[in-house]
Formats: sequence, C-alpha cells, structure tokens
Amino acid sequence: MKIDGIPYRTLWEVAGGVEIIDQTVLPHEFKTATLQTMEDAAHAIKAMLVRGAPLIGVTAAYGMVLQMRTNAGDAALLNAYETLLATRPTAVNLRWALDRMKAVLLPLQPAERAAAAQKAAAAMADEDVALNESIGDHGLAIFQELQRRKGGVLNILTHCNAGWLACVDWGTALAPIYKAHNAGIPVHVWVDETRPRNQGASLTAWELGRHGVPHTVIVDNAGGHLMQHGFVDVCIVGTDRTTACGDVCNKIGTYLKALAAHDNGIPFYVALPSPTIDWTIRDGLKEIPIEQRGAEEVSHITGIGASGEKGTLSILPKGSPVSNYGFDVTPARYVTGLITERGVCPASEEGLRQLFPVETFQALYKIKPFNTETPS
Ligand code: MRU
Repeated sequence: MKIDGIPYRTLWEVAGGVEIIDQTVLPHEFKTATLQTMEDAAHAIKAMLVRGAPLIGVTAAYGMVLQMRTNAGDAALLNAYETLLATRPTAVNLRWALDRMKAVLLPLQPAERAAAAQKAAAAMADEDVALNESIGDHGLAIFQELQRRKGGVLNILTHCNAGWLACVDWGTALAPIYKAHNAGIPVHVWVDETRPRNQGASLTAWELGRHGVPHTVIVDNAGGHLMQHGFVDVCIVGTDRTTACGDVCNKIGTYLKALAAHDNGIPFYVALPSPTIDWTIRDGLKEIPIEQRGAEEVSHITGIGASGEKGTLSILPKGSPVSNYGFDVTPARYVTGLITERGVCPASEEGLRQLFPVETFQALYKIKPFNTETPS
C-alpha cells in the first residue's frame, strides 16, 4: 500500500538487516527501525513494534535469517526457534513460520543455512502478499453483492487492525475493503477503537485515512447500538488462530461484536490466510492459549497533547487491580463465512476441508507441520 504516494510493505530487507515500520509510534509519528539480530526481531514482536498474526510470522522468519548470519549451528538454530516462538502465544502464524524455517534449515549444512533462510523468508513475505490479495478478491465479491442489494453506501464494521500493517501488505479483513474502495464501490468503515492498545484508533484509522477510505472511529461499546439502528451492513475481522472446526480467536472484544451481529441478523465474516489455521485443534475455547498482557496497557493511555508533545496518563485509582486478556474466541456458529485465499467457506471442518483438502495442503507447504488426521 502507499503512504503519501510511496509504496511500502511493513518489512523489507536492507544492508545489515531488516527494516520494519515501528507501529508503537503510529499514528502520530512514522518511523522505521532496523532489526540486526535475532534478539532484535524477538523484541520487535514482543514489544509490538510489529504485530498482527501474518506479520508476526514473517518477522520471526527473518529473525531466523538474522540468526543464521551470525551463528548457523544446530544449537543456535534451535535456540532461535524457541526464543522467537516464546514471544507471543496466540497467533499460530508464528509457529507455522518457524516450523517452516526449521524444516528448510535443519537438514542443511550450517554454511548453507544463511542463504537458504533468506530465500525462504523472502518467499514467505511474497506469499503473504499474494494470499492477502486473493482474500481481497474473494471478499470483494461479497461486498459487491451486499452493496448491490442494499444500494447506497455499504457500512462495514471492523475490530482491531487486520489491515496491511498487520501483514506484509494488503491486510486480511481490510483487503476486501481496499479492493471495494478501489473498484469505486461506496464503502464506509466503522472502526472500533480496540482498547486497551487502540489498534483500531491508531492503526486502522491511519491506514484507511492514508488510502482515502471513508471511516469513523467509535468506542468499542458502540457497535451493538449501531447494529440495532441499522447503521451496520456487514462486519469483517481478522483472526490470530482458527481451529480446524472454524472457531476463530481474534482481538479481545471480537466475540461481543459477533453476538451483536447475530442478534441483529448482520453477516459476520472472518478473513484469514491459511497459515492462520491451526489444524491440530478443534475447540477454540478449550485449546487456544490466550495472551495476557501488562496491566499498564489498561491503567494508562498514551497520546499526543495539544502542542504536539507525547504523554502517558494514568486513568485508574491507585491500587485497583487490572486484568488484560488480549484475545477472545468466537465460536464458529456466529461466523457467517471464512474468507480465505482459496475462496469463502462455512466456518466448519467440512467447509475448511473443502477448500484445503489434506493432500493439497501438504503439497503446498512441502512439509507436514500439523496433525492433519481426521478425528475418529
Ligand atoms: O495484538 P495484535 O495487535 O497483534 O492483534 C492483532 C489482531 O487481533 C488481528 O485482528 C489479527 O492478527 C488478524 S490480522 C491480519
């Protein structure tokens, strides 16, 4: 996507490392940072300079590249794998990317590993762009049809940031929105602010604004009210992990939007590239690890003052305890459809298997990273 007319990806190779857009300072500042070591990559993921399931995976893959450039021995490789895997627990793309890198690198001699790692990570980044663009095309057909039936502006609600900043390019949930806007379909996006880290207010609003997509930022609790009054035509969100049965785990608060959409008969779509599917699990509520983050994300708010100075303010009484769950699970029964790079399917094991039969999935990725057996 473009920023002020200049095409960008969220990460790219530079001499001596990998350049990323530092998402902790958006929307008030546009700054890039250079990752020079595997530890830099791990820090960037953990501290959320980069975030979003697909981008976390590709950044981890480049973390392996950086490790291979300094020490490509078996012990260093396995340590890098474990260090990067431990950065964030919920998005399965992280494990997917690291498994894929390990499968490529371990059979090679150490001297061959740096070049092979770079090739594999670059392929993964390009593949992410292609998968998301394809999601955009499939989602576009849905939006086209909804807008044709309704006439006028199509009002779309989204939660968190599942845009190009969360991926290498295009985004997952936002890809169909960009495609629709580019095709001249009148769209307007309700952007949930997404407390506590405000990925909607600071990242989605910024992205959409830069691309000229009409949008309005709302507090997280406004969605239900807007749906009851006919101001929302469709919801679309991303996911950090989708089970083999179609349960989806996304940023905390997604479940409540799905419930409100269900109560109001509003379609609720989830957009995902196949690396976000965890074929090893079926029950999202029982089996997906939910990240818990620091109390300061809830107890404080960071922003910019009237004279442009950055500041962080406490908003809690001293001593009040805080809990901070990062994600929740939306059961498959509340999902109208999963929009993948291979098309749209029901949120169910049968639906997913129609698009991703076991054999073609294995052939696609040349390895067998997941337990792909059908349950007895
Ligand atoms: O905690 P974050 O900002 O990494 O959470 C990101 C999300 O929840 C996105 O919706 C998800 O990764 C899907 S992204 C394309």
